[in-house]
Order: sequence, then structure tokens, then C-alpha cells
Amino acid sequence: MNYKNEQYQWIVEPLLNWYKKNARVLPWRENADPYRVWVSEIMLQQTRVDAVIAYFNRFMEALPTIQDLANAEEAVVLKLWEGLGYYSRARNLKKTAEIVCNEYGGNFPTEYKELLSLPGIGKYTVGSISSIAFGLPRAAVDGNVLRVITRLEENSRDIMDEKFRREIAEQLEKVYPTGQCSEFTQSLMELGAMICVPNGAPKCEECPLKEGCRAHQNNTWEQYPVKKEKPKRKKIDKTVFLLHCGNEMAIEKGEDTGLLAGLWKFPNVEQKMKKAEIEEWLSEQSLKPVSIEKAKKVKHIFTHIEWHMQCYVVQCKEKNKKFNWVSEGDLEETIALPTAYKKCL
Ligand code: ADE
Ligand code: SF4
Repeated sequence: MNYKNEQYQWIVEPLLNWYKKNARVLPWRENADPYRVWVSEIMLQQTRVDAVIAYFNRFMEALPTIQDLANAEEAVVLKLWEGLGYYSRARNLKKTAEIVCNEYGGNFPTEYKELLSLPGIGKYTVGSISSIAFGLPRAAVDGNVLRVITRLEENSRDIMDEKFRREIAEQLEKVYPTGQCSEFTQSLMELGAMICVPNGAPKCEECPLKEGCRAHQNNTWEQYPVKKEKPKRKKIDKTVFLLHCGNEMAIEKGEDTGLLAGLWKFPNVEQKMKKAEIEEWLSEQSLKPVSIEKAKKVKHIFTHIEWHMQCYVVQCKEKNKKFNWVSEGDLEETIALPTAYKKCL
């Protein structure tokens, strides 16, 4: 065979041999049940291995099959997730279980695009489920793998760059060993977790790849991986009106596009406002304020922007036609108000 263009061929054998001897015994490695692999991978995306083990075992005891997860009350799933954080992952877990049970007869699809379309499953998770559970040659490029690879070749490209990650995945996939795809994926992760560690000096003397590793040869491991700073989030000031009339409050549906488009919101203006401007705005909405009271300052962070909200509580003499007026009970119980606005209450 000619491996000329396959830059990672040389790592396969030493890694697999090392992994056979050094793999940690972990509960999700007992078998290749896709359900177990999937749940463990989602848990491992936010928490260290040591901490995940207990959560994983408890989860599998409570919900041993994907059908059990699909049938479970959301509250039960969230309770099992308590302490792991990022609850959207738990909700997505349940959604995906429902889809797999209802649309795929309880078996995960193996088709790349179908897997990727499932809630909470991104490229990394597609790669890990595909290789670990299905034995397919699909790479799972996580932080561990990026650290190992960039050090091996002293590669200074930005590891946050999607294109770079895809190229690494493609190059790795060329050398995935038939019949040992699961071991290869996990050996790369394991090396990153145990030897080419994230905090502090890598244990190069114990590393099966040290002979071919540029960062080791040149003692430059500290420079890799390169991670460009995220661009700063854009700050947006808002004046938010908590308009009361009797026991009702005003809400409206955002006609604007973008963030939270089409969802309920408290009437608000995208700027800081002075008292006179507030009075003028209220008058434009055909509202007669009985009192205007400066209330909470609320900050809400989205991925790319931050809202800095100054809230005002305004008691109105009568309701206007422009807004929807709802009881405070409904507001709490039946109306889906985005978290950013809930925080204003
Ligand atoms: N991190 C992510 N997936 C892992 C796995 N299968 N084993 C150990 N650590 C991991
Ligand atoms: Fe990481 Fe050292 Fe191994 Fe290179 S030799 S991959 S720096 S542990």
C-alpha cells in the first residue's frame, strides 16, 4: 500500500497498541449499545469523565433503553440531569429518543445526514456514535483530538475554525482501521485525556507517538493548540416596559426578525431612555400612566449579543388596543415568554 498522501497513517498502530494496554475501564465501554454510547457522549461534552460515571450509571438504571427515555416524563429526565448543567442537552436527549422511537423503530439511523439532523447531535457526536457504536470510519474531532493533532504537526491554525476541523476529520478518516474504528476514535480521545493533557505539561515520555511528534521534538507543546479569541459580543441597550393595568400586563408579539422573532415580549425600545422620552413613548402607545417607576436592570447573554435591559414598571389608567393584555397568572403559567424577558419580572 502507498501511504504517501495519508499523513496520519503512522499514528494508527502505535495508538491502537497503546490503547489496548491503557484504556480506562468505563461503564459506557462495556458494550457498543448506541443508546449508551450516545448518552455518555452527550454527558461527556460538558463534564469530566470521573464526574460522569455516577450520572451515567444512575441514568441507565432509571432509563435502560431508548424507549424508556422516549416514554419518560421530561421532569424525570431533567432530574436525572440535575448537576450536569446545560439542560437543553437533556431536553434534546428526550426529543431525539422520541424521534428515534417514532420514526426509526427505536434504532438510530446510521446515515450521516439523518444522524446529524437529530436534536443535540452535531458533527462530533455523529462521529463518535458512528465509530464507537456502529464501527464506521467517521472521525470525532473534539478538544482532545485537536490538541494531539496540532501538537504532532506543530499546526498553528485556529482550532475554532470549522474548516480546519473538517480537514482533520477528513485526513483521519482516510486512515480509520477497518474493524477497529471504535478503538481508534477512543484511543485518540484517551491519549488527549491521559497523556497529551489539557492543563500542564503533556507526559511525552509515556506517549506512543513521541517519535513522530514535532512539538515534542522541539519542545513547543505550550504553543499548541492555537485558539483565537472569540469576537466580543455586541451589547444592546433596551428599555423594557412592564405595563400594568389592574392585574393584567401588556405583552406583544415581536414582529421583528432575528433573535426571538415571533415570540412574546414585553414592549420595549432598543435604547436607553430618559424620563421625558419614556413619557413621550407611553403617550404614543395611547397609554396614560398613573405611575412610572424605575425597576430592575437585567442582563441577558445570547451567543453573539448581550441585552442590557433597564426595566420600568408603569401603572396605566386603561388598556390600549395595540398590546395584548394578560393576567399575571397566565403570564406565569401559560404564556411562553423567553427567559430574557422572564428575568425582568
Ligand atoms: N470523552 C468523550 N468521549 C469519550 C469516551 N468514549 N471515553 C472517554 N472519554 C471520552
Ligand atoms: Fe502530546 Fe507529547 Fe505525545 Fe506529542 S509526544 S502528542 S506533545 S504527549
